Amino acid sequence: MIRVELPRFGRFASWRQAARQLASARVDPGRVAWRHPDSDPDLFGAAPLPPVGPHPVVATRDFLQLAAQVASHSDPERWALLYQALIRVQDDRRFLGNPADPLRDRLSRMARSVRRDIHKMHAFVRFHELPAQGPRRRFGAWFEPEHPILEAGAPFFARRFADMDWLIATPEGVARFAGDAVTYAPPESRPELPPDASHGLWQTYFASIFNPARVKTAAMRSEMPVKYWKNLPETRLIPAMLADAPRRVEAMQEAGATEAPAFAARVTARLRQLPDDRPPDSLEAAREQAMRCTRCDLCHAATQTVWGEGDRDAKLMIVGEAPGDHEDLQGQPFVGPAGRLLRDEAAAAGIERAWLTNAVKHFKFATRGTRRIHRNPDGGEIRHCRWWLDLERRFVQPRLTVALGASAALALTGDGSPLTPRRGKVEIGRDGGRVLITWHPSLILRRSGRPAEQARAEFASDLAMAAALLASDQPDR
Ligand code: URA
Repeated sequence: MIRVELPRFGRFASWRQAARQLASARVDPGRVAWRHPDSDPDLFGAAPLPPVGPHPVVATRDFLQLAAQVASHSDPERWALLYQALIRVQDDRRFLGNPADPLRDRLSRMARSVRRDIHKMHAFVRFHELPAQGPRRRFGAWFEPEHPILEAGAPFFARRFADMDWLIATPEGVARFAGDAVTYAPPESRPELPPDASHGLWQTYFASIFNPARVKTAAMRSEMPVKYWKNLPETRLIPAMLADAPRRVEAMQEAGATEAPAFAARVTARLRQLPDDRPPDSLEAAREQAMRCTRCDLCHAATQTVWGEGDRDAKLMIVGEAPGDHEDLQGQPFVGPAGRLLRDEAAAAGIERAWLTNAVKHFKFATRGTRRIHRNPDGGEIRHCRWWLDLERRFVQPRLTVALGASAALALTGDGSPLTPRRGKVEIGRDGGRVLITWHPSLILRRSGRPAEQARAEFASDLAMAAALLASDQPDR
């Protein structure tokens, strides 16, 4: 049997060096006894470490990371298990990636338990101020972790409390910091720690976050396991607080607010205005409901709902995107510059009667100084407002609809794909009606020179096509 003695501190580095040497000679894990200062007395005869062997030794990054954590576990078998794993890695580098492997599973669970213990150490060490011996303040703490994690957990405190001297005593040993590196020493008797004023603060903090109406003892125990309680000043309050919780809940209920806070009136008023989902039985009733629409947030900033207008018996419906600045103020669609262009071109195409409306009925804008800059409605706003467009279509029953731009095309056909290849074509809408796709007039206004001329010519030709399509329909109105 080969006996490897590991020191009390720095043991992972020592294990690593010895394990590498053993693995280079491919020493069988069953032939190695790993020992450290707290191991039971040795029953075996001891053979020294064999010399470095001929085999190259590979230790993957994953393996070393896992091994460093497992090294802080309290299981006396940890060193042997890690050596077994190292030997396995030599033949199969990916074995650690197999969650079904029992050795891998055991090591992962050990590493997880160590990580959790370190986390708890960082959260639950409570320092007591000690008399200073120089210009720096001094603190001491007693902590009882589940595993020997002192070396793994202490460097955190050096980073966090670099401006004070401290010691953390544990059953495993003592970590000390005095401004440079952390040093470790074998265990000493539990230090006498004077009462500390900050412990009253811990209690105050804990008492104030304790909500008697939400007592979840299982969750509390999982966050703050009972084994750590004895060294936490705040946990002394827990039994009394739990016992008192039902009485406090009753008192809270009795003292419950009797008057709604001021904002409640506003919320109630909004709720009262929530859309009436009962389908209206006429275009007028639909308009009435739409005037109170709060289906999306656009209603809050806009001046008013801009409902459709025109000839409700027309065979043609023209759908734009959303009201602009002028439309929002006047409450009518297409009364601004884009509307003028549309009306001019429609008249030129011989369109005399149409129902004009928009996919979205509220103005969407961003303010820049005193100006309200138009913004395109998004998919959600278009979807919410489809409720109104669908109602309008049900009552107007157009034979043909012209969609001006992408938002109208999306609302009418459900297809949000780019407009260029679709322009000038007739598609079938969501409700089965014919939808002719064309540019939005504001696109023409935004362009200049030849591109503007071309878009205007295409727009004019699309409107002429709409007029021709309607003219070729059987007259039934
Ligand atoms: N643009 C639109 O899409 N609709 C209007 O009502 C005005 C401008």
